[in-house]
Amino acid sequence: MNKGLYVHVPYCVRKCPYCDFYSIVDRSRAPAYVDMVLDELGTYDGEFDTVFVGGGTPTSVGRELVRLCEALPKAEEFTVEANPGAVDIELLRALKKAGVNRLSLGVQSFNDAELRALGRIHTAAQAEEAYLLAREAGFGNVSLDLMLSTPNQTVGSVKKTLEKVRELSPDHVSAYSLIIEEGTPFYGAELSLPSEDEEREIYYTARDCLTGMGLVQYEISNFARPGMECRHNIKYWTLAPYVGLGAAAHSYCDGRRYSNAPDVAAYLEGRGRRVECEVITEDERLREKFWLGLRMTAGVPYSGEFPEAVDRLIERGLLERSGGNIRLTRRGTDLANLVFMEFV
Ligand SMILES: C[S@@+](CC[C@H](N)C(=O)[O-])C[C@H]1O[C@@H](n2cnc3c(N)ncnc32)[C@H](O)[C@@H]1O
Ligand code: SF4
Repeated sequence: MNKGLYVHVPYCVRKCPYCDFYSIVDRSRAPAYVDMVLDELGTYDGEFDTVFVGGGTPTSVGRELVRLCEALPKAEEFTVEANPGAVDIELLRALKKAGVNRLSLGVQSFNDAELRALGRIHTAAQAEEAYLLAREAGFGNVSLDLMLSTPNQTVGSVKKTLEKVRELSPDHVSAYSLIIEEGTPFYGAELSLPSEDEEREIYYTARDCLTGMGLVQYEISNFARPGMECRHNIKYWTLAPYVGLGAAAHSYCDGRRYSNAPDVAAYLEGRGRRVECEVITEDERLREKFWLGLRMTAGVPYSGEFPEAVDRLIERGLLERSGGNIRLTRRGTDLANLVFMEFV
């Protein structure tokens, strides 16, 4: 089976106060980092049908990102994450030429006050400009990342952001509800966040607007034009194999999960590769199949595993059968964490 390839670019122009993805702001050693990633790639063989370069902010390292993409294997789906505050037309054209065919733009919101509250480096106008530049550079597959239930966000302000999304007509949208991560500046800070009820209403508003513009919901937070679902991310939810390169990257191959240390300095010295290796037992694999796979709206193929938990969840109206699959109901989507807990 073809594998997915993930490359972590652990650099950002500035750290956002809610984010716990591994990245640093000192980009001076990005050229050496790219060399080490290519060296690590040489330790793997096999074919890759999806490539995903994420971060961090891959576009913050400019030409080094282009050099990286030129050297990575070409894939049917080749995504790069881009920040609206860190792209220009030359960079986008060079990425396209290097084989990148899908761009994931971290827009988050088209409301300047919300962007400021999130500590983002870009404005709504820059986000729109970045999207138009991506189209001008020839990207036929552009995804927008949005964040829901962020400080001071309301149902009304989300509707306005979604009106702009409809106008731009992207091929794919990811809409993640803000998670307050321990250890980030947002943790314990006094923030004006939507109540639980408002949070639910914001999520429904986003879901209904996105599906209303012809995007199909294929995962709790992901919407796409039919046929343009992110094949790479689907690999994570369906336990397909993938290799992760770079500091803090994870891999899942041959029933094992590996992870590289979240430490750029160590990675540059050739240390920190596959420092953790966990053998996934059959029981763990089955549990993961359910708590990851149930994120997908199609659900998971069901052949009688965990009968008590599944029957209980069906009785409570949280799961339903559909063909040979079981999947979350609408209520189950609301209480997804409760459902997933049954399988962890
Ligand atoms: C790790 S970022 C990488 C992309 C790019 N650096 C950016 O921020 O636009 C990928 C996405 O994760 C989401 N994200 C990051 N931290 C989050 C959090 N604490 N809660 C919810 N979503 C988050 C954002 O939507 C972001 O676009
Ligand atoms: S959200 Fe994106 S830009 Fe902000 S710190 Fe995280 S990875 Fe960097």
